[in-house]
Amino acid sequence: MNNRRDVLRVGLVASLMLGVASFGGISFAQATNALAFDPEAYTELTVTITTDAGDREVTYRFWKAIPYVANPVDVAYQSLNVSAPVAIGGVAVDASNAPILFANSVGGYMPSSVADAEGVGGGGMTGMPMGQGGPTPPAGAEVASGGNAMLNRGERVSNAKLALAAGYVVVEPGARGRTLTDASGVYYGVAPAAIVDLKAAVRYIRHNKGRIPGNTDWIVSSGTSAGGALSALLGASGDSPLFDPYLAEIGAADASDAIFASGDWCPITDLEHADMAYEWNWGANALASGEAADQGVSKKLAAAFEAYQAGLGLEGKVGFGPLTAANYGDYLVRTYLAPAAETYLAALPAADRAAYLAENAFITYAEGKASFSWPDFLVHVGARKKSAPAFDAFDLTTGENNLFGLGTTQARHFTLPSLRAATGDAAAELDADIPEKLKLMNPMGFIAEANSGRARHWWIRVGTKDSDTSLTVVGNLAAALENLGDDVDARMYWDAGHGANEDAAAFIAWIAASTGYGPRV
Ligand code: DHB
Repeated sequence: MNNRRDVLRVGLVASLMLGVASFGGISFAQATNALAFDPEAYTELTVTITTDAGDREVTYRFWKAIPYVANPVDVAYQSLNVSAPVAIGGVAVDASNAPILFANSVGGYMPSSVADAEGVGGGGMTGMPMGQGGPTPPAGAEVASGGNAMLNRGERVSNAKLALAAGYVVVEPGARGRTLTDASGVYYGVAPAAIVDLKAAVRYIRHNKGRIPGNTDWIVSSGTSAGGALSALLGASGDSPLFDPYLAEIGAADASDAIFASGDWCPITDLEHADMAYEWNWGANALASGEAADQGVSKKLAAAFEAYQAGLGLEGKVGFGPLTAANYGDYLVRTYLAPAAETYLAALPAADRAAYLAENAFITYAEGKASFSWPDFLVHVGARKKSAPAFDAFDLTTGENNLFGLGTTQARHFTLPSLRAATGDAAAELDADIPEKLKLMNPMGFIAEANSGRARHWWIRVGTKDSDTSLTVVGNLAAALENLGDDVDARMYWDAGHGANEDAAAFIAWIAASTGYGPRV
């Protein structure tokens, strides 16, 4: 028995005797009992998982819909599923010391539930488009794009399933999301509920060290889009005391919420600076309708990006020097875009490559090296997905406006330029709680502070045609971590859109390399 459990047992006995010990608003005894993982409460399932190395039949233990807090607000969301392989391809495996993939299925900052999942990889955000494996959205629910529908050139990819087929443990947490309302119309899943829930789920895993399968020192988070943003935030903000009051309120276990590694696909993050970044990046691109975004708004925001970027004080990699609004296009081409094009072109059959290059004459390609200009790349991408401002809309209609809702207020402004433009009041100020909410939702601040509880291993990916946010959001996240000396594997997928995951097998291998836990099959 480990020390932690000894301490808990002593605490349990003491609180039963005294009947008064308090723990996160409920008694220590209740919390300890409620949050103990029952190793025997599984069903055994079998699934065939397609991997790069062929189909694998995996027999695994499945623990379903376990509440991860003692005092849930909505247990349909604050529950997690655990899957642990016992045999892969007919060969017995022991996953008791395996890495734990902590795969969230948040999309669009919407609620995500695993309560109805019938096995590994079955979670989904409420409101995920029909036919993509998500639950049926409630009538009138907003349908968000992307979510956990990760795609490899049209084929669905599940990190959770691939991790299981590699012999890892998979934990899939649900989390509250921005659209949830109670009977009085109070929004109870707005910021920071989702990150608080994910942290509580990590604490639950740690609290159950020795009972839950897997190595609790090797928790590797993954997520896409809003889920990618939350995965990055989980990695950056490990053990930050700022979340303690929120965690205590829901009866989270008293344990570390730091994680080992963070995998972040197309993270929709740094929200309070994303409008500026978006116009710097996609400002000149027309909307899909062919109409231009409001150029007055766009130019003002793009100009403001200059000071924002300078203020970050980031250095580009390989001795690039300070990253600025003036050189960021070149930096992206050199560091991410040309290498992405090269990977893409090298993998094409010669005839397809020749045809692609003939259609895309802006690319010069010789001896495996691609070159092109940033302005030509922008023309190549074409339509921008969002109007201006992209995130803090004047009419409060974006998902992010809802994310920063409060009480019975569905949506609020979270940036001064939008608030002031929308109200016509040049002296208007954001609601007093907004700065703290922004801080709790943004990994960049925790990285800028070199938060010591942060993950040290990072996997960051985005498609080059993904205009759900600015490519600088990914560039800055990666650069900030690289500047701290963390282990960062950041790449882009050429011509890929939102939700792309084109090297999932490499991610699984990266987990093995980072932990030193070799694939078991
Ligand atoms: C997602 C997409 C967005 O464009 C956004 O602003 C927030 C979230 C998503 O797919 O999760």
